[in-house]
Amino acid sequence: MSLKQFIQELRDRKELAKSGGGAKAMEKQKAMGKLSARQRITSILDKESFQEYDMFVEHVARDFDMQGKVLHGDGVIIGTGTIYGAPVCIYAQDFTVAGGSLGLMHSRKICKIMDHALKMRIPLIGINDSGGARIQEGVNSLAGYGEIFYRNTMSSGVIPQISVILGPCAGGAVYSPALTDFVFVVENISKMFITGPSVIKTVLGEDYTMEEIGGAKVHCQISGNAHFYAESEQECFEQIKKLISYIPRNNTKKAEPIEPKPVKSKKKLEDIVPANPKLPYDMRELIMAITDNSDFFEVMEEFAANIVIGFGRMNGETVGFVANQPMVLAGVLDCDSSDKAGRFIRFCNAFNIPIITLEDMPGYLPGIDQEHMGVIRHGAKVLYAYCEATVPKITVIIRKAYGGGYIAMNSRHMRADFVFAWPTAEIAVMGPEGAANIVFKKEIESAVDPEAMRQSKIKEYKEKFANPYVAASKGYVDEVIEPAETRSRLLHALEVSKDKFAYRPEKKHGIPPF
Ligand code: HXC
Repeated sequence: MSLKQFIQELRDRKELAKSGGGAKAMEKQKAMGKLSARQRITSILDKESFQEYDMFVEHVARDFDMQGKVLHGDGVIIGTGTIYGAPVCIYAQDFTVAGGSLGLMHSRKICKIMDHALKMRIPLIGINDSGGARIQEGVNSLAGYGEIFYRNTMSSGVIPQISVILGPCAGGAVYSPALTDFVFVVENISKMFITGPSVIKTVLGEDYTMEEIGGAKVHCQISGNAHFYAESEQECFEQIKKLISYIPRNNTKKAEPIEPKPVKSKKKLEDIVPANPKLPYDMRELIMAITDNSDFFEVMEEFAANIVIGFGRMNGETVGFVANQPMVLAGVLDCDSSDKAGRFIRFCNAFNIPIITLEDMPGYLPGIDQEHMGVIRHGAKVLYAYCEATVPKITVIIRKAYGGGYIAMNSRHMRADFVFAWPTAEIAVMGPEGAANIVFKKEIESAVDPEAMRQSKIKEYKEKFANPYVAASKGYVDEVIEPAETRSRLLHALEVSKDKFAYRPEKKHGIPPF
């Protein structure tokens, strides 16, 4: 054969491999509102940057009807590419090929690209669209998942790992996404569950749709398994690119800085926060009145909305925000919000992202439900995550900082590097009402006018303790600042913390309360 013919053969083979499960299966995929696996990859990556590997891998199954069956690429596409010029590893399961089911060679391909990502210290993006373990391949499929989980765990905290759920993700298959740092879901397309409708029907006799068990909204609002929600695949891909732009490629690097921009929001900080501590406001407005260009990329927007987490930039550099949301449950910490904050703090710490904490909360959520759900165990995650974190940690106490909440929200005692408080800050063991009722119980009960006495004691307590000056007099608060000074103080604190070194004792690993 001439070279030309060799090249033609190669091209033909590639063309065939790219046909996936064939025209009919591709049509079905399209009819479900889903892009093909290759389209997904090329939509996420920089134009023409995708380099594919293992295109000609074939399955080795011989049981059932598998002998002689052609499964192009064994139902998964792997490769490398760039996003805004930064290298990433990527894989996408191809549902048109045996339902994207995971057999031995399919899992080996995924493992190969995972190993590559870890070795090259670059982020891994996994697009899941699969019927789960390939039934015909038995224990080889289960082994494949085990190998993936092991690699997810080894890569955790070394390279960012992103999971995209763009189809079914059933059975144990959900545990790879659960082991990664961020899970993206899309309305109507993403389905994630351990047991699907038929199993639930068989075991419990109950009827549910896949959407009800594990649709996109379920995981964004109720289970907390997903971090980003989009209405279309394209919107989801834009979110992934944005996330990649905010985070470093591995744990030895800092996120790439961009051109610093001034705050865009015209809202003044003091106009956002009502002086009356009983009135709520949207903490996200406050964040956007501080960040470059007023950009805030929120994570887990709809889950445990009483805490707000996400990325912004200060003077061009990425920071993570952890902030109470007075608009939802007065911004209390509870089981879910503690989980949400704790994990985010650990991500930021692992990937060298400074953390800014904005505090306005009355403490942990009281109640028997929370106690029985383990608010002690869950709440401890926030304490653990902040104490453990060695990245620059800066706190601004806006209004309320009561009780356990004061300590937990990156107080000096958790080793905050800088603690600022607005003059509106109230730092005390508990809110003035509760405190007055307990401390002055006898005086209130024996007064001629108990209510008047109660009010006067609340006032007395407020004046004495519910302010920032007691904490400032002890050095627990470094400086009481005017709201308008917040950004400049934060910028300076970040600047002087750039080469922060914090000692933590040598250990194999800690035992966080997870
Ligand atoms: C082999 C599979 C498959 C699987 C789907 N297919 N799932 N082949 N093993 N697990 C094949 C189908 O036979 C079909 O092949 C093609 O993929 C498309 O599937 P359909 O059923 O036609 O598609 P759809 O109607 O869209 O339904 C999708 C689905 C359904 C909901 C995902 O296929 C399904 O319920 N699959 C089984 C899911 C499951 O229980 N998986 C095992 C989970 S246990 P043809 O040739 O007809 O096109 C597990 C354990 C992992 O994963 C443990 C790890 C620790």
